[in-house]
Amino acid sequence: MTELRAREPLTLPEILAMKPAGTKIVMVTAYDHPSARLASEAGVDLILVGDSAGNNVLGYDSTVPVTMDEAVMLTAAVARARPRALVVGDMPFGSFQPSDAQAVRNAVRFVKAGADAVKLEGAGPMVSRVRAIVGAGIPVMGHLGLTPQSATKLGGMKAQGRTAEAARQLLADAHELEAAGCFSLVLESVPARIGAHVSEALSIPTIGIGAGPGADGQVLVWHDLLGVNEGVAPRFVKRYADVAGEIRRGLEAYAAEVRSGAYPADEHVYKINAEELRAFEADLDR
Ligand code: KIV
Repeated sequence: MTELRAREPLTLPEILAMKPAGTKIVMVTAYDHPSARLASEAGVDLILVGDSAGNNVLGYDSTVPVTMDEAVMLTAAVARARPRALVVGDMPFGSFQPSDAQAVRNAVRFVKAGADAVKLEGAGPMVSRVRAIVGAGIPVMGHLGLTPQSATKLGGMKAQGRTAEAARQLLADAHELEAAGCFSLVLESVPARIGAHVSEALSIPTIGIGAGPGADGQVLVWHDLLGVNEGVAPRFVKRYADVAGEIRRGLEAYAAEVRSGAYPADEHVYKINAEELRAFEADLDR
């Protein structure tokens, strides 16, 4: 049975109106149905089904191995929660780079799976991909700064735009993506002052992750912000919960009670009518 939405879904114009109104946009990644439902109930504006699923739920070392089939399956699970938040499907490495036609074909797959928009990394040749997807009627979110799909080329997972020349290029790329029709732009791991300059220069909203408070919104990875991931985190991560600790406490308590016999207790078992039981047990005695 489909769940009823608590409130009407957000629309793209409503998201766009937040920047001129000075209302910060809240985006979070989610990769499954219950997480999407919780994010929506918490009032999040945008859910990104990020290719960060690669290293957060699929067990890969990076985002690079994520396939279209995996990304589409996760997006469909999120969309089935019918969240109030807009759902953005993240186009995985290899799904848009080869050609405009392939980019449009794969963006269409995301929309058919329930996404409201797609995100793709990069500028330069990717600007034409943005134009093609937007031309097909699908809203596109850009992504500049640290673009993890090209981390090797960027010299690793490190902050970008830290020289005047790199910052100039970042700003030029941002303008190009805006002109190509992006409805918003993720800025990842750039100096706060550069994040603020780019955000001021654009009419479309920027969503920062490690881009400082001047961005028009913020995004964090679910597993980072909720403390599912416990290891060393990038500088921009703030942990708002200790989900891993809570899960561990729950599992340890469960294991202890199974071993001691405390679980299942009387309230967890099904009963049989005494007469039926007697009849059954009489058969056993024969
Ligand atoms: O995949 C992802 O989670 C992302 C965010 C870091 C913006 O692209």
